[in-house]
Amino acid sequence: MKNIILTTCMLLISTNILAAAGDIKSEAIKDRDTRMEWWREARFGMFVHWGLYSIPAGKWEEKEFKKGGVEWIQSKAAISADVYEAELIPQFKPKAEFAEEWARIAKTAGCRYLVFTSKHHEGFALHDSKLTTFDAKDTCGRDLFKEIVDATRAEGLKVGAYHSVIDWHHPDAYTGGEFKLPFVRGTTNKGRDNAKYVDYLHGQTKEIMSNYGPIDIVWWDYSSGQCRGESWRAKELISMVRELQPQIVMNNRLYRSPEAGWPNKHDWSEGFSIDPQYGDFCTPEQKIPPNGVEGVDWETCMTMNTTWGYNQFDHKWKSPETLVHNLVDVVSKGGNYLLNIGPKADGSIPKESIERMEAIGNWMNINGDAIYETNASPFGKPAWGRYTKKPGKIYAHVFLWPKGGKLIVPSGDIVVSKAYLLADRKQSALPIQQTEKSLTITLPAEAPDLTASVIVIEHKHDN
Ligand code: GLC
Repeated sequence: MKNIILTTCMLLISTNILAAAGDIKSEAIKDRDTRMEWWREARFGMFVHWGLYSIPAGKWEEKEFKKGGVEWIQSKAAISADVYEAELIPQFKPKAEFAEEWARIAKTAGCRYLVFTSKHHEGFALHDSKLTTFDAKDTCGRDLFKEIVDATRAEGLKVGAYHSVIDWHHPDAYTGGEFKLPFVRGTTNKGRDNAKYVDYLHGQTKEIMSNYGPIDIVWWDYSSGQCRGESWRAKELISMVRELQPQIVMNNRLYRSPEAGWPNKHDWSEGFSIDPQYGDFCTPEQKIPPNGVEGVDWETCMTMNTTWGYNQFDHKWKSPETLVHNLVDVVSKGGNYLLNIGPKADGSIPKESIERMEAIGNWMNINGDAIYETNASPFGKPAWGRYTKKPGKIYAHVFLWPKGGKLIVPSGDIVVSKAYLLADRKQSALPIQQTEKSLTITLPAEAPDLTASVIVIEHKHDN
């Protein structure tokens, strides 16, 4: 007994010593699973890119940037931090209750969480920061971070902060050059003391994590091969965040490996893994990994047109059908889908984005059961659509309604009890025929939903 007590005491002491040295406390797999549970079940979130860059919306003086991320306009148009600030701050006048609109549209679409840019590469902070005057409170007199967090929670959604570790405003932050970070032409690393910037990064993170109640996600962005991990004092940063927000879920962009290219293709290469100390999920950007990411939590983030921040010239909108198919495709491979909107300067959402979010919402209202709390397909990727599953249920998402009226499912040895259309409230049984290897379902002549009709296949389940 004495020995047990002694060993326990020693263990406790050593854990504390490790923590005090800035190491990240390890977490039991069981605890990690509990912490990740809501995120894994949610499957669908809304991303919001909004900041000062939403004002020029793709145009600086005579230069027009027709496509691609115009939240990078400061870099693309080589605008010095002083000019950027002087030009844009006076024009930044968010309308009242914009945040309620964001939260409402996320909820309408069926998203279970919302992640917004608390600070993008431009360096402008939406929260009330005591460490700079380049923040919402000091410029427009409002704590926009609080407005967004409160509105999101009021809709019953989880809330996350995208926080850029790149900073084009802070005079000491590393820029381009040998660090190969994205930069603003004309800036150099000469005379910069990045250690001071990293203190500032830690300080602002602490403010965000301390002053707004529970924050569910921190979405770091981003590291380069040369500037990553300990360049940001990442272990210490993560320890602090986990200390203040023990339940938080975070991506892995503080720790990209040097060989990782962009856009994160590396994240679904064979053998890819995340050290759980340094993040929980990876973030394939603008891409759906062909077969998911084996053994790793992942989230595809994607734009509706070609830009993250609002771009007045970008009309290359994906169709609502494509967006629903993408959502289903991602979920059928075991991932989450984080779909972006780029509100205009005053915070209002472009009508094209509203229309698309509503269309997804209409589909989710009927078919949400086949998305939330589901797991990856048990039978790969059929040519006609995708599968998702839950204990005792397989969902066949049919994008292309079979001409002959028969859907064939390689059901193997599962024992099917019933098949019905998810859109059918009465759950009337569809005729089925099961052989040793497959199940044939006879479908009605017309697809109930031209985008994707879901057929529920109920089967005997052991646990
Ligand atoms: C990239 C871009 C950025 C965007 C992000 C979203 O890191 O720099 O503009 O916010 O990806 O994934």
